[in-house]
Amino acid sequence: MAHILGLVGSARPWGNSELLVRQALRGAEAEGGTGQMVRLTDLRLEACTGCMRCAIGGKPCPIEDDMAWLIQAIEAADGLVLAAPTYFLGPAAVVKRVLDRLLMVTGRVTEPLPRPRPAVTIATAGLQDWRGVTLPFLNAVVAVFGFLPIESLTALAPGPGEVLLDEELMGRVWTAGRRLARGDMDPSPPPPGVCPICRCDAFVLRADRAVCPICGQEAAIEPVEGKISLHFVGVEGEVRRWSPEGMRKHMIEWVQATGPRFLARRAEIKERRRPYQESELEWLRPPLDPQREEP
Ligand SMILES: Cc1cc2nc3c(=O)[nH]c(=O)nc-3n(C[C@H](O)[C@H](O)[C@H](O)COP(=O)(O)O)c2cc1C
Repeated sequence: MAHILGLVGSARPWGNSELLVRQALRGAEAEGGTGQMVRLTDLRLEACTGCMRCAIGGKPCPIEDDMAWLIQAIEAADGLVLAAPTYFLGPAAVVKRVLDRLLMVTGRVTEPLPRPRPAVTIATAGLQDWRGVTLPFLNAVVAVFGFLPIESLTALAPGPGEVLLDEELMGRVWTAGRRLARGDMDPSPPPPGVCPICRCDAFVLRADRAVCPICGQEAAIEPVEGKISLHFVGVEGEVRRWSPEGMRKHMIEWVQATGPRFLARRAEIKERRRPYQESELEWLRPPLDPQREEP
């Protein structure tokens, strides 16, 4: 029996992200799967401090919060649903906080790579022209764990629960949930002009190419009947930035290689830092509130 985990990236109870996760899990249950949900904002997830212990030292993350638990829960799932709102053109902050901590996963370079499993990713947004880059960030999160988005979409719904009015959307998400429970790994085709890997539709232009800023996928820009058309190249079998293989390559060849380079010049950096340490600049902080727990 497939176990499907639903991650809700919105703090809004009965909001659109939550309802869409519930809908996918209902679809999964209709196919004989089991579903469980986690609201990411219910967890204690601290900011990554950039200590690099997990990434370069191969040691566990020193932060004691719910991140290790979350990673375990995600790794135990046979399928994943991740839905989160667009806040100011990107994913709600809790999603980025999770992504920031995923060196904990990609830093385990001697462990076997995770098995490929299906995922459904849904960005909720109020307005098509304000959708920003939420969806590709959701796809980056799931890809690190080896999940392949078989359905990946933006649901437009400004008010809480408004997704329920869109029957076509709810049907599509329900079907996606059923496919998750079946372990179906066949991704739905991306719309034209959208990165087929992470579904980003904003590109960096380089000469005759468009480059996806999130996953690095390249496309040749070709005029077709007076319009611009993007022709994505080398999608199949490539080592992709956010795949477990791609991240492992990046960790070993770049991230870990920065360690010895830094250590070789650490004394010089310390020396150059001295004048900054001697200056009188103070940190501005809010007044102490006796009711508030200190960090
Ligand atoms: C603080 C805030 C910022 C938002 N920023 C955007 C935005 O940049 N683009 C957009 O399309 N919608 C934006 N929205 C609308 C939400 O993405 C939309 O209402 C979504 O359905 C909320 O999902 P939820 O019900 O799961 O929280 C914003 C909403 C809030 C509360």
